[in-house]
Amino acid sequence: KQSYAIDVIAGDGIGQEVMPPAIACIDMLAAKHDFTITWRERDWSSERYLRDGTMMPANGIEQLADGDGIFLGAVGTPDIPDHITLWGLLIPIRRDFMQYINLRPTKLLPGLKPRVTGADSIDLLVVRENVEGEYSELGGRAYRGRPEELAIQEALFTRRGVERVARFALDLASRRSGRLVSATKSNGIIHSMPFWDEVIDEVGKEFSSVTIEPVLIDALAARGVLRPDTLDVVVASNLFGDILSDLLSAAAGSIGIAPSANLNPEHEFPSLFEPVHGSAPDIAGKGLANPIGQMWAGAMMLEHLGQKAAAAELTGAFESVVALGHSTPDLGGSLSTEEFTAAVIEQINTKH
Ligand code: NAD
Ligand code: IPM
Ligand code: MN
Repeated sequence: KQSYAIDVIAGDGIGQEVMPPAIACIDMLAAKHDFTITWRERDWSSERYLRDGTMMPANGIEQLADGDGIFLGAVGTPDIPDHITLWGLLIPIRRDFMQYINLRPTKLLPGLKPRVTGADSIDLLVVRENVEGEYSELGGRAYRGRPEELAIQEALFTRRGVERVARFALDLASRRSGRLVSATKSNGIIHSMPFWDEVIDEVGKEFSSVTIEPVLIDALAARGVLRPDTLDVVVASNLFGDILSDLLSAAAGSIGIAPSANLNPEHEFPSLFEPVHGSAPDIAGKGLANPIGQMWAGAMMLEHLGQKAAAAELTGAFESVVALGHSTPDLGGSLSTEEFTAAVIEQINTKH
């Protein structure tokens, strides 16, 4: 019998509310599909920071290293500046474990009315570069509080970093539509994007079945709203991919449904699975959070662990509930987080 150790970091805000639903579904599927998961619960969060002054223990990364995966809710609270909470937990995990791919699927769930034109058949993948680009540690601030105060942020793109994300995206595209859109901004006064374009093109020569379409990010944002159905696989830098994934999932209904797999494709380190959305302080504690993003992230984790049938059953279960016309308020429904979860559990129970 297969068994896995998964570290659970529910984190802050609605992270605490959407994590138990996803775990409940996965536990049921584990029993059905004959594997076990040991959940290693970590109370690493902003609450811990306010109590102990750190988001995670000093050896937190080591504690995660021997696990089979990390399941994260969300991190962030209005009480602490975001750069402290994020650089104290999520960003170090992504970097230390070389999770250089952030894979973010979006599709229109069956039965939902599209929010925007051309959204009736959204089914796409954003492949976001996840360890470099605009999210570099290069830069700084000076002259704090004086009129001369300044901040500098340098974007960092390495040949190796762009090559590997390009290869991952091209490979995916070659197994889907054969079309890859590359988010770029090589018309701007920046050095990084012409380099990005060149490297993507070079790696593209290895994939003769894939057509690469570079699209300027501003126009791509508009296309994401007007004709998201024309996109299949989109490769993007760290910041562009971040923005596009919220935009495209909103076009498909709600950012509450979108999952995210932070992958170390070599399996040298654990990968991390989380929803695309954040801790949503505006709705936290009200039972309004849509748990689909967390559940779908759980399905991506099951897939990554090799439990494909369980993964498919999980996505099938929440899709069926939505198709029956039941959803949380962000998708126009009236169910609470708990009620929606109960309906998904019911689906899992009644199948077979
Ligand atoms: P957010 O994603 O938390 O919320 C944006 C909007 O979407 C809000 O109106 C929220 O209510 C709604 N929303 C988000 N998830 C939802 C869900 N599951 N169901 C229904 N509605 C949902 O983004 P924000 O408000 O910009 O950020 C809040 C905090 O979360 C910040 O501290 C930010 O840094 C953090 N954040 C963390 C992560 C992460 O941990 N991976 C990701 C994004 C943002
Ligand atoms: C995401 C989030 C993070 C990011 C933040 C919280 C650092 O927005 O996972 O999309 O920008 O990567
Ligand atoms: Mn984001």
